[in-house]
Amino acid sequence: MPRCDQTPEWRQLQAHCRDQGRTLDLREAFAHDAGRFGHFSQQAPEVFADLSKNLWSRETEALLLQLAAGCDVEGQRDAMLRGDPINTTEQRAVLHTLLRRPAGLALPGDRPEVVGLLAQVHGTLEAMLAYAEQLRADSRITDVVNIGIGGSDLGPAMAVRALAAYRIAGKRLHFVSNVDGHELDAVLQGVQPQSTVFLIASKTFTTTETMANAHSALAWFAAQGARDVGRHFIGLTTNTQAAAALGITTCFGFWDWVGGRYSLWSAIGLALAIAVGAEHFRAFLAGAHAMDEHFRTAPVASNLPLRLGLLDVWYRNFLGFTSRCIAPYHAALARLPAYLQQLEMESNGKRVDQSGAPVAGGTAPVLWGEPGTNGQHAFFQMLHQGTDVIPLEIIAVRQAAHTLPGHQDQLLANALAQAQALMLGREHGDGHRDFPGNRPSTFLLLDALTPRALGALLALQEHRVFVSGSLWGINSFDQWGVELGKVLALDLAARLASGTTAGLDGSTAGLLRRLRTPA
Ligand code: F6P
Repeated sequence: MPRCDQTPEWRQLQAHCRDQGRTLDLREAFAHDAGRFGHFSQQAPEVFADLSKNLWSRETEALLLQLAAGCDVEGQRDAMLRGDPINTTEQRAVLHTLLRRPAGLALPGDRPEVVGLLAQVHGTLEAMLAYAEQLRADSRITDVVNIGIGGSDLGPAMAVRALAAYRIAGKRLHFVSNVDGHELDAVLQGVQPQSTVFLIASKTFTTTETMANAHSALAWFAAQGARDVGRHFIGLTTNTQAAAALGITTCFGFWDWVGGRYSLWSAIGLALAIAVGAEHFRAFLAGAHAMDEHFRTAPVASNLPLRLGLLDVWYRNFLGFTSRCIAPYHAALARLPAYLQQLEMESNGKRVDQSGAPVAGGTAPVLWGEPGTNGQHAFFQMLHQGTDVIPLEIIAVRQAAHTLPGHQDQLLANALAQAQALMLGREHGDGHRDFPGNRPSTFLLLDALTPRALGALLALQEHRVFVSGSLWGINSFDQWGVELGKVLALDLAARLASGTTAGLDGSTAGLLRRLRTPA
């Protein structure tokens, strides 16, 4: 597959960028093109998207679509969906879409093993949902503690919060991820062993933070005189042997072709299933599947994940923008920026292509953000008047889940106003009060924050990350960059205990000595 920066289409885009891309003025673009909103907005499953306030023209988009064709993004997509081992550094397929595919549904081109895998997926799903329902009905259990980190925490923690309106009463859900004992300690202080279930969520069951927290929770459980580990500790893992070694006999498994950051749809979603119940969990999967089907079948010009991924590449590699700000205008989506950070930055934060050769330009942008309107009173100043252009992605929800009068209109008015202010700017003449305007934003709109809509929104984000990763020619599905720190932390933990500094650099040795000095 040609890397996109080595294609004639890339060079055409460079020329287009030099000629007009950098000078596009959104205010003029709207003045000259009455159909701009119509052209650049669309309804995808559960998500309406307005891409018209972005710094691109119809010509830019047409050239980007040619780039996608030149790099066979559709072919790469199909290879993922049919189960080819596209995660080449780990020799694995990338089949998280199978986790939300309806039972028995065959897609054109499926590899032969997919039929069996889909049956396994549904077998585990049924068992996990039956367990979730049983636990929901068990009034003796009042607290559920999910212990996991990265994809084994961010997904369930974000989604449980996002779907708070659907949550069962009488069960508290807690999330412990950090090896910092303050986190687990705070949870343990508030729960009783007889009424608590711990979900030990770890794909590998080797992640040091999760193992440390699991061991401490088990030790606390025993210290309280409790015995029934089998009933109170559940493993969510591909490594059931390691779980069994801890006395964890009930496990819901998944597979090595599910990446950690793509695992919310698997057994890792158990905390969500407990919170919202089987029916809503199925709707969550169905929403994601609807977006998968859109990505698979929609024509390129109205394929939303494709359009977003192309826009991301345009911004990163042609206009040189290095970050994207995510502003969910819904308090329940407060953890969405953190979830998207892992999704995009762990997937596409790569500096070499599939062959191991350095990529020529930038890859993943920095993702960051906070819910609106809070962010407006913190860092939006920089979006409006700072020296860098930072595309803003607004995620708004039309209907509120509360009935407090007036709030929702104010919230939505603010979302609209920010996008408008960024684009229109304002001239005052004294510099300080001048807004340059012409600053880009994308507006994603859900009708309501339902399980189905959340599923579709997350699948949309997964696929747009896939599109940009495919164009960059990188492997979006490994994460070797997190390994070195893990290895060094093991060595330094031993040194913190022993005090040995031999062979360390001057700074690390100095800090280690300081850390060992009694306060
Ligand atoms: O260290 C990164 C990572 O491997 C993530 O990709 C993953 O989501 C997280 O750690 C947790 O891994 P596990 O589920 O195996 O504990």
